[in-house]
Amino acid sequence: MVRVQRTQVAIIGAGPSGLLLAQLLLLHGIDSFVVESRSRGYVEARIRAGLLEPGTVALLEEAGIAARLHAEGLIHGGFELAFDGRTQRIDLDQLTGSRVTVYGQTEIQRDLGEARQASGWPVVYEAAEVAIEDFDGKQPRISYLRDGQRQVIECDFIAGCDGYHGISRRSVPPDRIRLHERTYPFGWLGVLADVPPVRHELIYANHSRGFALCSMRSATRSRYYIQCPAAERAADWSDAQFWDELRARLPDGVAADLVTGPAIEKSVAALRSFVAEPMRFGRLFLVGDAAHIVPPTGAKGLNLAAADVRVLHRALVEFYRAGSERLLDEYSARALRRVWKATRFSWWFSMLMHKSSEDPFARQLQLAELAYLGQSQAARTCLAENYVGLPFEDT
Ligand code: FAD
Ligand code: PHB
Repeated sequence: MVRVQRTQVAIIGAGPSGLLLAQLLLLHGIDSFVVESRSRGYVEARIRAGLLEPGTVALLEEAGIAARLHAEGLIHGGFELAFDGRTQRIDLDQLTGSRVTVYGQTEIQRDLGEARQASGWPVVYEAAEVAIEDFDGKQPRISYLRDGQRQVIECDFIAGCDGYHGISRRSVPPDRIRLHERTYPFGWLGVLADVPPVRHELIYANHSRGFALCSMRSATRSRYYIQCPAAERAADWSDAQFWDELRARLPDGVAADLVTGPAIEKSVAALRSFVAEPMRFGRLFLVGDAAHIVPPTGAKGLNLAAADVRVLHRALVEFYRAGSERLLDEYSARALRRVWKATRFSWWFSMLMHKSSEDPFARQLQLAELAYLGQSQAARTCLAENYVGLPFEDT
């Protein structure tokens, strides 16, 4: 038997994009129905992003879920670039007047999950065979299988917030969507450990052995990454091998201060640039990683997802308040303007910091550009402005 329900906005995916959109809509009295293919435990345990732009923090405040972020998040007014055995600080505060916040995506996911639960509009987790129907026609709907029963949700709009591997983007006929993709020959091996961070700010290291990043989640929990081949398996790395390799890629003074300990988590992430255009198909809107992926070097993925949510929720609010489709019509172009800027920045920063060949010419160009960043305030400002993100209004 098929059970049919109705909502205003059907949201596929309960990652940060899906839950943040649901929460913002709820605050405007717009109801939504969220279906997620994984369990809540799985979604909340995934370790991913760590760095939030001021615009993302402002949106989380607007969503009413920023209390813990403000209590526990670490505010950073700068970061370090390490190269040639030395470090160069990028003073975000002085160069842009803005700061970034270190607060794990895991925590945001938990905050959003709790808010959704408290709203009385739960998420359907572990939904199988999620499908989109008639997104171009009169009665858009999504359907899924739960406990062996097919459920249908009729809706006004569908938000595809189901990440890179989701079904939303794949439901669009290939002749209506344009895909841009670059893969990189390297990945990141990441380790999370309960040890104090080596420095109180992030360090992005360019080294002849490959890139390394020192990040953190709190004063007692560190997140470190090293560049590795894209097909590397995390299980092939012992903790000791990881720490030795990380130490070898950091300036001596930093390496000497590194505190090591058992890895709580170790995983490899492939690096990819990907953009799908447009981001709207009739009543279906693609949001966040469903529409675009950037390599994590610029810390932009989650922030771009939040920017999409901001544009889409404002458009939906205007539609339900005033009956106007003007902002809905503008969604794709507005979101993509920001996406392409972040795609360019993430590509540039990745190519500057990673080892992509043994070519000494390429290496010297990287070192010359890093030295230029040391000498030119204009060059540092360009890096800093992109890193803290464009104002959300001005995309
Ligand atoms: P996702 O988080 O992928 O959520 C999509 C959800 O949809 C998932 O829960 C998935 O289970 C669900 N789903 C999938 N298919 C279906 C289906 N068929 N039906 C129903 N549900 C489905 N970004 C930053 O901004 N800053 C950083 O510092 C940063 N660091 C990163 C470090 C690493 C190592 C990685 C891998 C990523 C990093 N990112 C960073 C990127 C960031 O994590 C993502 O951009 C962000 O998770 C995107 O959120 P989303 O909700 O759009 O997609
Ligand atoms: C992280 O802490 O996971 C992190 C921070 C900055 C990045 C990427 C990842 O650029």
